[in-house]
Amino acid sequence: MSNLASILESRLGRRRLGWLRLLSEAGRDRAAGIYLVGGVVRDLLLKRPILELDISVSGLDEALALHLADALGGRLTARSQFNTFKIAVGSTVIDLAMTRGESYAHPGALPDVWPGSIEQDLARRDFSVNAMAIDLSVDAWGELLDPMSGQRDLERRLIRVLHPDSFADDATRIFRAVRYAQRLEFRLEEGTADLLKASLGGLDTISGDRLRHEFQRVFAEPHPGSVLSRLADLGVLEAVFPPLGRRSGPWPDENGPSDEAEELVWLSTLACGLNAGEAAQFAQRLNMGSAWAAVVRDTVEIEGILNDVGSPGILRSSVYHLLHQYHPGALVGVVTTHSEGLARDSIELYLRELRQVRPELNGRDLIGLGAEEGPEIGRLLETVLEARLDGIVTSRAGEESLVRRLIS
Ligand code: CTP
Repeated sequence: MSNLASILESRLGRRRLGWLRLLSEAGRDRAAGIYLVGGVVRDLLLKRPILELDISVSGLDEALALHLADALGGRLTARSQFNTFKIAVGSTVIDLAMTRGESYAHPGALPDVWPGSIEQDLARRDFSVNAMAIDLSVDAWGELLDPMSGQRDLERRLIRVLHPDSFADDATRIFRAVRYAQRLEFRLEEGTADLLKASLGGLDTISGDRLRHEFQRVFAEPHPGSVLSRLADLGVLEAVFPPLGRRSGPWPDENGPSDEAEELVWLSTLACGLNAGEAAQFAQRLNMGSAWAAVVRDTVEIEGILNDVGSPGILRSSVYHLLHQYHPGALVGVVTTHSEGLARDSIELYLRELRQVRPELNGRDLIGLGAEEGPEIGRLLETVLEARLDGIVTSRAGEESLVRRLIS
């Protein structure tokens, strides 16, 4: 068995190491086993950055969680149905879970959970590289628990399920396998890849909310495009929503620089190529909220007007009128996907410049110049905006003389 105490010391930093030592002492008071588990162990061994501390504790209940929070000088901020808790220490959140066994009543069901040993807890997990723990108890500080040979798979750079029913139990693991493979630049172990392909039908059992969450996690990866390409190649996108299978060619690697929320831009690249009816069905399948559904709908509409937007010599004001009703995330998504042509130039011009253009004059100024209160004000402001966009006026004085001409 290897001992990782020196890795803990060199990689975690004084503060986090101090917390683990406090938890270790507090666990001894209550004779509880206490372990660092899952992704953090994987990332410690891979020398990747450690973002979260996931800790499992045998027999964890609210009283024990309170005791551990006290020992850390922190606050218990949340508890869930499966005896998982969050402790806030300053601005850091530490996740605590009860070591547990799990079983699935039927594919796609949430698991039935019961208190179990750390070995049972590791055996219920998704992949061998996520099924390791580091013992934090005082007597065995730093010992690696690796009953599923995760360390060997880290060395071979393989994503491997622990048992043949893993994807059937929980088809969201299909997404997880691909995310980890692309993020860590690992291969899917051969048997795992076969099981994955054979389990695609199980995605039908996954609720819209859970599927949406999986896409969100894809979009938050360092290279979402590579994950989407791999999901497409493996037939996962088609299994989720068949029209997504029509999409050929790789996804863009990057979105390019933009101020838009990355998540919505990647969503838009995913929706490119759908028609309006399919877009609505896709939104329904993922039970999308209004922002996501709008991006999907807008993406399809923007693709439908690319010829107009890209017509040679189009006025800047016309570009503005064609595009200003759409979500910028959808515009960036479409530009990223359709990487050539005049339409692309127009959309980029809109995003970079036109969407910021405003007249300097406001309604009150127009009344001051003699315009009549009421709908005329709106029409005049619109005309001034167009003149601004097309470069016909470039100053406040220019706007004023245009308005005077219009109302005289
Ligand atoms: N897990 C699982 N099956 C799932 C989801 C999670 O077995 N469907 C287990 C894995 O062992 C995983 C742990 O729960 O390591 C925590 O899940 P999560 O926070 O999603 O994963 P991390 O490994 O922390 O991954 P990431 O680096 O993406 O945060």
